[in-house]
Amino acid sequence: MGEFLEKLISDFGNKTITTGDVLANKASSYWDPTPIFAKGMARPSSTEELSQIVKCCNEQGQIIVTHGGLTGCAQAANSTKDHLIISLERMNAIEEIDEIGGTITVQAGAILENVQKAVAEKGFYFPLDLGARGSCTVGGNAATNAGGINVIRYGMMRNHILGLEVVTADGTILSSMNRMLKNNAGYDLKQLFIGSEGTLGIVTRLVIKLETASKSTQTALCALDNFGSVINLLQHMKKKTGPRLTAFEVMWGTYFDAVTEEGFHKSPMNRGYPYYVITECSGSNPETDDAIFMSAMEDALETNLIRDAVIPKSEAERNSVWIVREGFEPVLTNKPLFLYDVSLPIKDMESYIDQVHKSLQETWPEMVCYVIGHIGDGNLHLMVCPREGDDSLHDLSDQLVYGPLKEIKGSVSAEHGIGHEKKKWLSHSRSAEEIELMKLLKRTLDPNNILNPGVIF
Ligand code: LAC
Ligand code: ZN
Repeated sequence: MGEFLEKLISDFGNKTITTGDVLANKASSYWDPTPIFAKGMARPSSTEELSQIVKCCNEQGQIIVTHGGLTGCAQAANSTKDHLIISLERMNAIEEIDEIGGTITVQAGAILENVQKAVAEKGFYFPLDLGARGSCTVGGNAATNAGGINVIRYGMMRNHILGLEVVTADGTILSSMNRMLKNNAGYDLKQLFIGSEGTLGIVTRLVIKLETASKSTQTALCALDNFGSVINLLQHMKKKTGPRLTAFEVMWGTYFDAVTEEGFHKSPMNRGYPYYVITECSGSNPETDDAIFMSAMEDALETNLIRDAVIPKSEAERNSVWIVREGFEPVLTNKPLFLYDVSLPIKDMESYIDQVHKSLQETWPEMVCYVIGHIGDGNLHLMVCPREGDDSLHDLSDQLVYGPLKEIKGSVSAEHGIGHEKKKWLSHSRSAEEIELMKLLKRTLDPNNILNPGVIF
């Protein structure tokens, strides 16, 4: 077991510290069924306990890998048998909902969906939303600056965080639990840790800004003929529905057809169109909101911007539309499969996808590339299935997908971070000066390089 782990167990007890054996049957992540490798796992019950554990690790040079809900797609939580995992799963309390200030104070290990439900009971809304809502944690959402389906209106996780408490590499508890929208008293230190993928500190508690719950939601699944119409529909919805627009998700027809094949999701409309869009609005006046949304849809149909539309009439029907976008398990059975999360200007998307498609096909004639995306945010996800070979094709696939991004100044990571997976591509999207400053921050905050080393760079 090793002396250090024995000492941790004797200092903190075996409820807090478990050995690597208990991890042998746990999958590394939602995406990777191989077991977790680690020396052991620490599951602290409080910030103070975590701080003491981290202090011991720092003194001994013990490498720490922090776990949230393990739903990230960039291998940021990978570990080896020499690493100690820190899991925040016991620190999942909802501490306070301030109904006057419109904030929630919550521990980092709370599951996103539980936070969404807790605030909904009080008439509030926490707009961060993503397919992994039932497993991801708000601490993980902060550490990766998660995005999801409502970014077009509400921004990414960074926009929702007012305050943060972090344990830094030497065990210091850095409490920046601000509750105000405005606080320009010096540097806004919490921003350093948001999106730092566990490399600069461990997020322990958060103050999150809440929105007022809306009174109406309008959803439509639309079929479109070409990508020009997808862009025009986005502009149309922005103009017609104004601040009500919360989601605008695109699915290329190949993806839509694959996940609605016999035996998979029931297709809410005819299959075979080149593009599908799910668009959603919400507002505080159901009658006006419905009328505005329906009028926007009618205009779009009359002007042939869209070929067909399905407007769900109940929550169950709405779910049957969203499951087509969020439930992509049917395509994950393709092996090997390489999932991408890139961002680029919307105007370049069609030619970019054409170019990538062409080069993938020249390389692997049988390949399939499924594309979906949060297009209003300039964010596409590609699922590349070479239909031959194995995971060793990942590098070549990366070159074909990331290569053309440089010229159009896109990013190799839109919302999932760099992790271990993309670090050799960091310089594709960040300058040498930017990377040097990132490294300087890392050296300053974690001189012994114990927090998620090897992640990002
Ligand atoms: C999604 C994940 C892959 O958008 O980010 O479904
Ligand atoms: Zn996404």
